Amino acid sequence: MSSAAAMTIGTGSTSAYALDQSWHAERDRLTSLTALYDEGTLDLAVRLGLGPGWRCADVGAGTGSVARLFAQRVGPSGQVLAVDLDTRFLEPLATGVIEVEQADLTLTPLPSGSFDLVHARLLLEHLPVRARLLRELAAAVRPGGWLLVEDFDWVTAGLVDPPSAVHEKVSNAVRSVFAVHGYDAQYGRRLPRAMAAAGLREVVTRIDARQVDADPGAGVPQWELLVHQLAPAMLAQGLVTPADLADFRALCHDGDTVLFAPLMVSVAGRRPGPAGLTEDERE
Ligand SMILES: C[S@@+](CC[C@H](N)C(=O)[O-])C[C@H]1O[C@@H](n2cnc3c(N)ncnc32)[C@H](O)[C@@H]1O
Repeated sequence: MSSAAAMTIGTGSTSAYALDQSWHAERDRLTSLTALYDEGTLDLAVRLGLGPGWRCADVGAGTGSVARLFAQRVGPSGQVLAVDLDTRFLEPLATGVIEVEQADLTLTPLPSGSFDLVHARLLLEHLPVRARLLRELAAAVRPGGWLLVEDFDWVTAGLVDPPSAVHEKVSNAVRSVFAVHGYDAQYGRRLPRAMAAAGLREVVTRIDARQVDADPGAGVPQWELLVHQLAPAMLAQGLVTPADLADFRALCHDGDTVLFAPLMVSVAGRRPGPAGLTEDERE
């Protein structure tokens, strides 16, 4: 893979990512998600054995919050490669342990057989070439190592109490805009079979549906910042009106409504060894 300075995003990219790292509040939007999910991601990785000396890759690394957590665990003898199409938030993290690479993963696969742990969260759901990418991520794991993939399933995204017509309209509009980019809103439920189809063994799954409350001050940043960023597209496509967006914002601050985030589906699978056996099976 090329260094950040040398690599440009060439033509032929099959990336279809619908969100924009240069949007003024994108870091805040990503942080609203990392605050909900980082602890669970680290917990899973530690259960898989993450520890001193491990070589890891976090792909579609976003703000680098997971790369930082992994780096603390692997220590000075380990390594964490943080890869993203847009590395603006990652660059300041490049240290001896964390290596930052700017790359379009749909064009530039990770080196094969190289990592004890490869992690991808909220990436594959966005990319139409997700089946190929999943196989490439599995191939990047060393025999006996782990691939940990986490993606949403929107099965819980419509859950809201009390019922809200504007929540239904706006969340459906978000899905419609995403769908144009090839987003799979049901990818979470497909992940366990997809991991097995990619040749991984010992596939284990954890699901996590987070309650997010309509706070009068903070609102619901996970939803509001997503809606805010996609508002121009939703308005241009006639999916919502300015009044709908104002009502949605009011809902997110009403101090009463309880919403649920999409279901986070986290799936780990182990790459078999050369003889088709995992390390445990060979012992
Ligand atoms: C929704 S964010 C998730 C960030 C992080 N994994 C997390 O869970 O906090 C998706 C990330 O994937 C990156 N991304 C999208 N398409 C990509 C591609 N083709 N190659 C590399 N990174 C990509 C985006 O720039 C963004 O940082």
